[in-house]
Amino acid sequence: SQNLRIGLFGFGSVGSGIYHVLKKKEMSEINIKTIVVKDPSKPRSIDSKHFSYAAEDILEDEDINVVLELIDDADAAFHIVKQALNHKKHVISANKKMLAEHFEELIALAQKQKVSLLYEAAVCGSIPVIRTLEESFGYDALTSLKSISNGTSNYVLTRLFQNPQPFEEIITDAQKHGFAESDPTLDIDGWDSKFKLIISNYHAFGILNTPEDILNLGIRHVKPEDIEFAKEKNFSIKLIGHSKMEDGKLEAYVAPQFIPTSEAITSIEFENNAVEINADFAHQQLLQGKGAGSVPTASAVLSDLVSLLKNYSYPYSKVNTSISEFDSEKLIKIY
Ligand code: HSE
Repeated sequence: SQNLRIGLFGFGSVGSGIYHVLKKKEMSEINIKTIVVKDPSKPRSIDSKHFSYAAEDILEDEDINVVLELIDDADAAFHIVKQALNHKKHVISANKKMLAEHFEELIALAQKQKVSLLYEAAVCGSIPVIRTLEESFGYDALTSLKSISNGTSNYVLTRLFQNPQPFEEIITDAQKHGFAESDPTLDIDGWDSKFKLIISNYHAFGILNTPEDILNLGIRHVKPEDIEFAKEKNFSIKLIGHSKMEDGKLEAYVAPQFIPTSEAITSIEFENNAVEINADFAHQQLLQGKGAGSVPTASAVLSDLVSLLKNYSYPYSKVNTSISEFDSEKLIKIY
């Protein structure tokens, strides 16, 4: 296997997390060569001599064979990832918005360039969702997914169930902890969950959706009365990314749901995430773990790096037509 010489874009929560994780692991085959950040004036946890400020320092460096794209801005990320793939570099990204908005184009480009595009960290942080959905369930066996994939919304709901308090205050706390998006409406209005659902659906069912295809309702309209009602009736309220396959068609949406507290998924609290997988043969399974945060999310980036050492690319085993022949009629739209 080849050594990985990394160009890292971004040194925020996940970027600094993977830097520190790699330093701790001291793996001789995996080395960060160049780190590019946007803002030279921002205080960082390591000395400024470690940073470059020009994307070309990574993209034009032929020695660098892996790009870690861990920046916040989805449009800038798309530009970087496209260029990196065009330069035949492997790409690891945690940017669910960017991936969900350009999924088809990026997968096709990676395939054309014969490089890997991996993104385990983009869905449910530390939980190994993508490779599990892709590889651990045989074709046609999966019937539905139910996920709590937005740590911020789950954190807000958990706190609201503890005691009534202003929404805004809890969001500020979630931002302080580093798991809310810089624009928290992406969290609260269900966008972030929708982006993650799109990525999961492709690996679970081989069905590709665009953000316009899927309804997202967030937790903004969950009222104190709803919480009182839920408590009285032994329900929890969770923001759920739902998808269900029936007769070759997929039903998918994101919405807050009342769920009986007897269901295991209601035990997932604060920024933790979970994916309930229902399958014909395996029946029900629940994956759970830290869905956000610096080091847990970095662990998923590390798992992608280790996969690259083994020359891994997603097999897209559920997709039985080439991506350009994808049949969008397979999605049931709910508005
Ligand atoms: N804002 C996201 C969340 C971060 O709250 O889950 C992890 O993707």
